Amino acid sequence: MFNHPFIILFLSYSCSRANRNRPKAHVGTCHHLIRSLIIYMAVSSEFFGLLLVTLLVVPLTEATRNSLFGSSRDDVQLANSTTWAVLVAGSSNYFNYRHQADVCHAYQILKRGGMKDENIIVFMYDDIANNTMNPRPGVIINSPNGSDVYAGVPKDYTGESVTAANFYAVLLGNVSGVQGGSGKVVASNPNDKIFVYFTDHGGPGLLCMPNVPYIYANDFIQVLKTKHASGSYSEMVLYVEACESGSIFEGLLPEDLNIYVTTASNANESSWATYCPGMDPPPPPGFDTCLGDLYSVSWLEDSDSEDLNTETLEQQYLKVKTRTYNNNSSEGSHVMQYGTLSISNETVSVYQGSASGNSSMNLVQSFDSMGVVDQRDADVYSMWQTYKRLTEGSQEKEELLKNIKEITTHRAHLDSSVDAIKGYLLGVGHGSGRDEGSALVDDWDCLKSMIQTFETHCGSLTQYGMKHTRTFANVCNNGVANEAMEKVLKATCSSYNMGQWNPAIVGYSA
Ligand SMILES: *[C@@H]1O[C@H](CO)[C@@H](O)[C@H](O)[C@H]1NC(C)=O
Ligand SMILES: *[C@@H]1O[C@H](CO)[C@@H](O)[C@H](O)[C@H]1NC(C)=O
Ligand SMILES: *[C@@H]1O[C@H](CO)[C@@H](O)[C@H](O)[C@H]1NC(C)=O
Ligand SMILES: *[C@@H]1O[C@H](CO)[C@@H](O)[C@H](O)[C@H]1NC(C)=O
Ligand SMILES: *[C@@H]1O[C@H](CO)[C@@H](O)[C@H](O)[C@H]1NC(C)=O
Ligand SMILES: *[C@@H]1O[C@H](CO)[C@@H](O)[C@H](O)[C@H]1NC(C)=O
Ligand SMILES: *[C@@H]1O[C@H](CO)[C@@H](O)[C@H](O)[C@H]1NC(C)=O
Ligand SMILES: *[C@@H]1O[C@H](CO)[C@@H](O)[C@H](O)[C@H]1NC(C)=O
Ligand SMILES: *[C@@H]1O[C@H](CO)[C@@H](O)[C@H](O)[C@H]1NC(C)=O
Repeated sequence: MFNHPFIILFLSYSCSRANRNRPKAHVGTCHHLIRSLIIYMAVSSEFFGLLLVTLLVVPLTEATRNSLFGSSRDDVQLANSTTWAVLVAGSSNYFNYRHQADVCHAYQILKRGGMKDENIIVFMYDDIANNTMNPRPGVIINSPNGSDVYAGVPKDYTGESVTAANFYAVLLGNVSGVQGGSGKVVASNPNDKIFVYFTDHGGPGLLCMPNVPYIYANDFIQVLKTKHASGSYSEMVLYVEACESGSIFEGLLPEDLNIYVTTASNANESSWATYCPGMDPPPPPGFDTCLGDLYSVSWLEDSDSEDLNTETLEQQYLKVKTRTYNNNSSEGSHVMQYGTLSISNETVSVYQGSASGNSSMNLVQSFDSMGVVDQRDADVYSMWQTYKRLTEGSQEKEELLKNIKEITTHRAHLDSSVDAIKGYLLGVGHGSGRDEGSALVDDWDCLKSMIQTFETHCGSLTQYGMKHTRTFANVCNNGVANEAMEKVLKATCSSYNMGQWNPAIVGYSA
């Protein structure tokens, strides 16, 4: 009887539950084991057992009691390893609908796969479902025929609490480091797995957030190194969608942290929004905004349809890579892998829960060309869709046009100001002098200070201007002094009225 695998499983399960969140020193000795054993005997041998239960049930701890009589379905934890997930949508605003839709969809996959809310931490601004522009109030969809993905999503970090600092504290399990939000953190133990999914705008060396400052690659990689040094996970998988997302890891992420990463794009290219108005397939009528992003919907729809207990991360990577490549059109990107690549032979279920797949679900399983728009143009693209729909001569229409004009004017100003920097400070070739595979920059403080200097004189870079950070990096790589930068920027931007893009109002992105 005691060799029966079920009993062994049962016992280790009880132990793992009882030991969770205990100091390291206590974890090794599982003294609840023997009690669980006796209780098991008791319940299975009716008569003699009742006596034992009466004698032993009193000193049981809460944890042991829960493990015996509560939470029946808990596959992930049977192996004494919990999977944690951190899902981050780094944008706000209805015209960025798609990032929060991606994150909500990811939550539904994990949830269906048996992961618990206590182990899933969601960052989303949460300004979409109730947005006055949303044609389906209270609902978010992630594909043209998709069903609601918003229901049930935990509101851990919303609005003002969607910050880089909170993201770092959550990953590190630093409860006192979190400001606002639910306070939920990745309280992982050494056996645990962690899945991180991020979707938003980005640029060389950084990922945007709805509240500044943004996530900079050096800070993020340092957080991963600290997490590794704390010995509080066994393996981690990161999926990252953003423009130039490869630059966050290229030349920066060590291969021995037990962290496996895939990114939507290499270090030099845009990532793409999809399911936009006017594309095939289009969103339902009334949606002026894109519903998803190409890399994101590629993995999300794959996870919807495949049996995650048999599909490996490598298999998912290859399918996502093919679809995101978009038939080698210029409107696609190169999905990349970084870090500890051997992790990719594990099944997807280890990180995303054990959903067994539904081949008829939400599926646009075509690997043909998809209609897409550059992440950085998607908001203005969506605004034009709304503009076209509004009543001619209405005040709303006039205001939207004014708004679009202001945005495009600021963008043109950013582009020409950065051209001035290239011209004056980097010379004709404006080469980086850096080899492929090396990090964007070595002196990240220099990069951040150049960005601040730029914003002080020329206005906020915004998510759009983040495409220019390689130029700022190259200014640093070429050893140009901040004073020289300042001189050029004063000359270039002194006559520009920053208006709503004054960093004194919107804050600095570095
Ligand atoms: C559960 O995990 C902890 C933390 O790594 C470990 O010390 C303990 O021995 C494990 N318990 C069992 C029953 O495997
Ligand atoms: C959205 O509206 C519903 C119904 O009025 C409300 O319960 C919910 O709190 C709102 N959510 C947000 C994020 O405002
Ligand atoms: C959406 O559903 C309609 C009606 O069932 C179907 O004709 C259409 O092909 C579907 N579109 C996609 C993209 O799956
Ligand atoms: C947690 O975050 C706070 C605030 O950032 C910091 O002071 C503290 O050192 C952090 N604690 C740990 C253990 O990292
Ligand atoms: C993709 O297109 C580029 C240029 O159009 C070409 O050089 C390259 O060989 C193509 N790659 C594949 C795999 O077809
Ligand atoms: C994955 O590869 C590593 C190293 O090649 C190997 O040790 C491990 O057993 C493999 N894991 C699986 C699940 O196949
Ligand atoms: C699979 O997805 C379809 C479409 O969403 C749904 O109607 C069906 O009930 C699902 N089947 C299972 C087994 O979940
Ligand atoms: C893929 O690209 C090729 C060449 O650019 C084109 O002929 C073909 O029609 C495209 N396939 C699809 C499904 O769009
Ligand atoms: C990206 O650009 C840098 C600098 O222009 C170059 O060194 C590198 O080879 C490029 N990387 C890729 C993957 O194209």
